[in-house]
Amino acid sequence: MAGSCVGESDGLTFWVAEQKDYDDVMSISVQIYGGNDYLPHRYAGWMTEPDRAVILGRRDGKLVALVSGLIVDEGCTVVVEGLRVCPSERGRGVAGVIQRFADQYIQQLYPSVRTKRQTKVDEPSAGPTQTLSKFTELGRRGPNPIHVKTSEVVTMEKGAGLSIIGEADSFEGFISHLRNKLHSTTGSEPGVSVPQMFLIEDEQHLKNILLDPELPSRVELPGGAIIQDWQALQPIEGNLEILARRNLTWLADKPERPAFLSFYTPPYPIPYKGGSLRFNIDMFGTDLVSAKRALAGHFEKVRERREVKGKVLVHVYLNKSLWEGMREFCEGYTGVTRCREYWEQLFLERGM
Ligand SMILES: CC(C)(COP(=O)(O)OP(=O)(O)OC[C@H]1O[C@@H](n2cnc3c(N)ncnc32)[C@H](O)[C@@H]1OP(=O)(O)O)[C@@H](O)C(=O)NCCC(=O)NCCS
Repeated sequence: MAGSCVGESDGLTFWVAEQKDYDDVMSISVQIYGGNDYLPHRYAGWMTEPDRAVILGRRDGKLVALVSGLIVDEGCTVVVEGLRVCPSERGRGVAGVIQRFADQYIQQLYPSVRTKRQTKVDEPSAGPTQTLSKFTELGRRGPNPIHVKTSEVVTMEKGAGLSIIGEADSFEGFISHLRNKLHSTTGSEPGVSVPQMFLIEDEQHLKNILLDPELPSRVELPGGAIIQDWQALQPIEGNLEILARRNLTWLADKPERPAFLSFYTPPYPIPYKGGSLRFNIDMFGTDLVSAKRALAGHFEKVRERREVKGKVLVHVYLNKSLWEGMREFCEGYTGVTRCREYWEQLFLERGM
């Protein structure tokens, strides 16, 4: 355990994570998120990512917890990610201890940070929401979201998640299935295909779309943020470089002033079922036909670029009003099936 200890509290010592801690981190991460854990893939990138702190908590030298914070919104916000406590230490308040230390460590390094943001899964089928004590539900994603900003509690909003699974080999057939369904639901003339979504590749073009002050209301950004594979960022200039790092593929319903915007993150390996790929699609907007076109478009792109092989878990994050229509849209093809009940993505923010 080289490296330097950066603090201690409640019987834990805190350390800045290094690449050499990878195996220890993996040993406390077994079975996290039912095999959907992104950290095995992202850990190395986190070690060198600008403005990211990754803090480890150890008890008697043994790793017991990890939390990470990425500074976004031009230094005003920390996005908390990766929180985990080793199974034998859970239920004893360790998550609170390491987060309190990390908050204070981050504020020392980045005194401009005022807000803490987090996204979290909620499974309504598993019972009532376990609301975190420091975050109070003030609003929901929908036609009239409430945005109240106080230093104590800011906002909590929800989007829906649709999870499907299939072998990459079956994507070809699945895409044809989606295109046929799209064709019949939109009542297009026989032989006339439904128009593709617009691929937004030019950096300046994307910048114009993202920095349009009307974008958040037009596409109903949850809490005014673009959530990229669980990472919530305000659509402001300082965050564009962070989004650019992620190598996203953007689709829009129209090239200017889109009312529907969507992207996918390049598929990455996860531990699920001994080794699978995770393919995340984030959608913003409420038009069902656009959502269908975007889904088919993203599948076409990953297939065309040969970005998928083996078992692929696809998570689509979308406005709650679209979930049922998209569930139906994905049904009816044996090679790709739904693998999880309706679930929600919570967006939480509070002052620090
Ligand atoms: C969720 C997990 C980190 C909770 O750790 P824990 O130490 O057992 O949590 P405890 O209930 O004992 O600790 C309670 C404290 O942690 C906080 N906490 C618990 N779960 C939290 C979560 N998901 N996000 C943020 N804070 C959380 C509570 O707010 C409370 O803080 P306080 O002491 O300041 O009041 C742990 O069960 C775990 O590692 N699970 C697997 C990974 C995971 O689901 N991570 C959560 C990602 S959002």
